[in-house]
Amino acid sequence: MDADLSGPRLRRCVCPGSYDPVTLGHLDIVARAGELFDEVVVAVLYNPDKSGTFSADERVELLRASLGDRPGVRVEQFAARLLVDVCDELGAGHVVKGLRSGADLEYERPMALMNRHLTGLETIFVVADPQWQHVSSTLVRQVSAYGGDVSGLVPEVVLEALAKRRG
Ligand code: PNS
Repeated sequence: MDADLSGPRLRRCVCPGSYDPVTLGHLDIVARAGELFDEVVVAVLYNPDKSGTFSADERVELLRASLGDRPGVRVEQFAARLLVDVCDELGAGHVVKGLRSGADLEYERPMALMNRHLTGLETIFVVADPQWQHVSSTLVRQVSAYGGDVSGLVPEVVLEALAKRRG
């Protein structure tokens, strides 16, 4: 029997992350969040005291170029902020995150519990498609830095940005 999915839709969610850089796995989670919520805010959260591979502006630019013009989806950046405060500011009651593995769950669970403790913010976990199970920004950066081929794992604009970075 098909599940009844006709109930009231949830309004706005946040897909938070470092996105250094965005991968096709991230894009899949954002697209699926868009099926559940009317509005998705992709929030690039970063620590201004730590330099990533890409600056926050570059991460946002790569996300926007990768997502294109999708109704109801927007990208914003937040420096040194608690996720609960970002969600309050955005009027979002839910966070959506992808889970690739048990290790992801162990990493995410305390944060989800802390966020619920702080303000009641709920986290909804979406199980990552198996084709993206091995794909993380960290591995993409590492493989690319040593000249490995990450095509098919990241959007074209990210491939180009990584190639430029390698020189
Ligand atoms: O892409 P990542 O590294 O998995 O993203 C982790 C992120 C940025 C979502 C997480 O570290 C976060 O929420 N940082 C904001 C600061 C914060 O709220 N910390 C307390 C979480 S309980």
